[in-house]
Amino acid sequence: MAGNAKLDLGDKTIELPVIEGSEGEKALDISKLRAETGYITLDNGFVNTGSCTSAVTFLNGEKGILRYRGYPIEQLAESSNFLEVSWLLYYGELPTKTQMAEFEKKVASFNELPEGLESMISSFPKSAHPMGVLSSATVALSAYYQDHLGPNPTDKDKEDLFAQLLGQVKLIVAKSYRNSQGLDPIASDSSLSYCKDFLNMMFGEADDEVAKALDVLLILHADHEQNCSASTVRVVGSSHANIFSTISGGIDALWGQLHGGANQAVLEMLEEINKAGGDAEKALEKAKDKEDPFKLMGFGHRVYKNFDPRAKIIKVQCDKVLEKLNVNDPLLNIAKGLEKQALEDEYFVKRKLYPNVDFYSGIIYKALGIPTNMFTAMFVLGRLPGWMSQWKELREDPSAKICRPRQIYTGPTERNYKALDER
Ligand code: ACO
Repeated sequence: MAGNAKLDLGDKTIELPVIEGSEGEKALDISKLRAETGYITLDNGFVNTGSCTSAVTFLNGEKGILRYRGYPIEQLAESSNFLEVSWLLYYGELPTKTQMAEFEKKVASFNELPEGLESMISSFPKSAHPMGVLSSATVALSAYYQDHLGPNPTDKDKEDLFAQLLGQVKLIVAKSYRNSQGLDPIASDSSLSYCKDFLNMMFGEADDEVAKALDVLLILHADHEQNCSASTVRVVGSSHANIFSTISGGIDALWGQLHGGANQAVLEMLEEINKAGGDAEKALEKAKDKEDPFKLMGFGHRVYKNFDPRAKIIKVQCDKVLEKLNVNDPLLNIAKGLEKQALEDEYFVKRKLYPNVDFYSGIIYKALGIPTNMFTAMFVLGRLPGWMSQWKELREDPSAKICRPRQIYTGPTERNYKALDER
C-alpha cells in the first residue's frame, strides 16, 4: 500500500487506497467505492481497469517491454525453449535440470487421446474451422476425466492437468489437421521434443531448424497478462468451473479476429492485396476510412503504443525461416511495404498503431505448411501455459472473488405489461 488518493464527490471526500506494483505501476483500489458512496466506475472494454494483481507477466506498452516472471522475452526467445518457458510461467522460477527432464517426460506421457474423443474429432466435417474443433474437443475432455470436475482442485491436480493439457491439446490440433486433410493420424513419439513431435504428427517429418522456429513462436505467444482470452479464462475460472471448460472459454475468446484470429485475417488480407496487384495503398485508405469497418489486420494493440517487442523478434525469425526453407513469398514483401507505408502515414503515427505479434507470424506458419485457418489454433498451443498459469494464480489467490462487473442501466424505466390484444 502506498498511501491514499482523495476523491471529491459533492460534499463528500473519499479516500482511495493507492496500490503499487513491483515495477512502480500505480492503481486506485475502488473496491469499496460503491458501498461507501453509491457510485461505480465505468470503463468500457476495461481500458483502464485492473482486474487482479498478478506476478506472472510484466509488460510496459509505452517502452515495448515484455517479461515472463521477470525474464525479458528477448532472452527467453534466444536461449530458452517452449516447455521450459511453460514451467517458468506456471511455477515462477526456471526449472533445474532434473525438474525439466521430469516435466518433459510427464508432458510427453500424454501421448494419446481417449478413443471416443478421437472418433468425435474424426466425425467433424473436413471443412470445420480448427478453432471450433479445438474448443469442442477441449471441453469434451471433461467427459473422460471426470475426477477433475470438482470445484477445488489440489496442487497436485493442477500440476497434473497442466502437463496433461500441454500434451493433449497438441494431439487435438494435429489430429484435427490430419482429419481435415483426409489423412490417417500419426502417433505421438515421446522421444521427440515438443515441437518436433507436433510437426511429425502433422507432416510425418520434422526438421530441427523448423522446429526451433516454431518453438520461438510458441514462446512469444506463451503469455500476455490480462488480454481478452486470459481474462476470459479468469472470468470462467472464477466461478470454479472445471479446467476443461475454462480453457475452452479462452480458446473461444482467442478465435475472434480482434484478438488471436488476427493471424488468419492478416494472411487473408495480404493475399487479397497480392491478388489485386500488390498495391497496399488501397488497404491503407480502406483502414483509414471511418465509414468502412475494415481495419489493417495485425496493426494496433490495446497496450503497445510504441512497438510490440514480439513483432520485432518475429520479423527477424520470418526472414530466417523463409531463407532456410528457400521460400520466396511475395506476401513478405507486401507485408514489409505495408508496414513501411503505415509507419509513415499520419493516421497510424497519430494513433500510435504499430505491427503486433500477428503481423508476421502468419507468413512463418504458411512457410511451415500450416493452413491459414489453423493459424489461431497454433496460437492456442503457445498461449496454453499462460492461461494455465493465470488460472493457477487465480485459484490460489485467497482474495479472489467470482468475476461479476456492474453496469449503468440505460433501458426503459418501469412500465406496465399490456396483453397481446391491447398492443
Ligand atoms: N487499422 C485502422 N485503424 C485502427 C486499427 C487498425 N488496425 N487499430 C486501431 N485503429 C484506430 C481506431 O479506429 C481508433 O481510431 P479513432 O481514435 O479515430 O476512433 C484508434 O486507432 C484507437 O483504436 P481502438 O480501437 O480504440 O484501440 P483498442 O485498444 O480498442 O483496439 C485492437 C486494439 C483491437 C488490437 C485494434 O488495434 C485492432 O482492431 N487491430 C486489428 C486487429 C488485430 O491485429 N488484432 C490483434 C491484436 S494482438 C492480439 O490480440 C494477439
